[in-house]
Amino acid sequence: MSNWSPNSWRNFPIKQQPTYKDLEKLKKVEDELASYPPLIFAGEARSLKAKLADVVDGKAFLLQGGDCAESFNAFNAANIKDLFKVMMQMAVVLTFSGGCPVVKVGRVAGQFAKPRSADDETIDGITLPSYRGDIINDIDFTEKARNPKAKKLLKAYNQSAATLNLLRAFARGGMADLHQVHSWNLDFIKDHPLGLKYEEIATKISEALNFMESCGITSANTPQLTQTTLYTSHEALLLNYEQALTRRDSLTGDWYDCSAHMLWIGDRTRELDGAHIEFFRGIKNPIGVKVGPSMKADELLRLIDKLNPENEAGRLNLIVRMGAEKIGDMFPSLLKAVESEGKKVLWSSDPMHGNTTKASSGYKTRDFEAILSEVKQFFQIHNAQGSYAGGIHLEMTGQNVTECTGSQSCPISQDTLGDRYHTQCDPRLNADQALELSFMIAETLKHSRKQ
Ligand code: PEP
Ligand code: CO
Repeated sequence: MSNWSPNSWRNFPIKQQPTYKDLEKLKKVEDELASYPPLIFAGEARSLKAKLADVVDGKAFLLQGGDCAESFNAFNAANIKDLFKVMMQMAVVLTFSGGCPVVKVGRVAGQFAKPRSADDETIDGITLPSYRGDIINDIDFTEKARNPKAKKLLKAYNQSAATLNLLRAFARGGMADLHQVHSWNLDFIKDHPLGLKYEEIATKISEALNFMESCGITSANTPQLTQTTLYTSHEALLLNYEQALTRRDSLTGDWYDCSAHMLWIGDRTRELDGAHIEFFRGIKNPIGVKVGPSMKADELLRLIDKLNPENEAGRLNLIVRMGAEKIGDMFPSLLKAVESEGKKVLWSSDPMHGNTTKASSGYKTRDFEAILSEVKQFFQIHNAQGSYAGGIHLEMTGQNVTECTGSQSCPISQDTLGDRYHTQCDPRLNADQALELSFMIAETLKHSRKQ
């Protein structure tokens, strides 16, 4: 890779970064982080890439989801466990009803840095720097809180390590055992229509497991029944953190960003000659790029050539986030341009970020109907062009929050948003809404796979 090094991004213009006052301290923190163990191993990133290549081939489906922003305050085992459970439930619905293996990737264990629409925020005549995520500053509206602090990178690393440790334990230690399929149903949705619909699938799976057991296929001799893999991902926005965790793989000599298995570039930092593209072109992980409504076809093709010059399937995930109102006009021509050039990319839909609105009560929200509509259109556009809609990217939680309005099974109105509105940044689907969406996607997948 010519002229690339883990710090070559520093020679390029960069957006959406904090201004640290104490640069000496920042350097010290970066050096300390660079001496810490990597969070993931390059071989894991390669195995994820191979699975994502299967998605590109239409043989599997990508489920990527988690908080908009993880927070230091909401860091506890229950939150991690409930996210794990709801992702398992969704994967079961997609695999069983949709007939399609699912690659599971959490927005977790590193999803801390946030791009913001403005550098500053003004309340009652006082202007302070915007909150940029717990890895950078604090959310409280005081000067002290909003001042970026380098040592928060270390705390983010430690929280990510502990989160990943628990997720690995769940995935390998028994929680992912298919015999547990009933226990993934979260308490607060068990008695809702969707919880009951899920129970029907769970019961069929239990029956199938009993039958297989009689035939000699058991947990003891078939690890696929008892274990799973949940990969991690986040927006690699704060490149100081990402660089410090970028390591050369001893097996291949290639560079991997070992802060997560998969990293993505946000819609606001994807300019072709910017620092983020420079950093990403040199790491070998599977990567994503958000594709918003301002993306032009020629720009997208140049971006693909820069990030995936060898046209390797599984390397590049284009995460389309146009909004329900715009996707029908804007996405078909982009899709056509990319497919007609024979580019091997994974197409997934982020139906969250183009559908954010403000409720009259002032809460930032998203309407479930708009989210559903964007996903449906995403599938229809692919069907019409004969390409494969490979994945979904969601902001969601296993908690019983009231952040997005709508949904059939558990309606939340603009007036009840305040009941349990806990997000650190953007509104998330609760477990009920996430499950409802996965039932809809499973139906669509089944249908499109038949065709
Ligand atoms: C996000 O995924 O939280 C985000 C900020 O998305 P986007 O870059 O698509 O705006
Ligand atoms: Co968000």
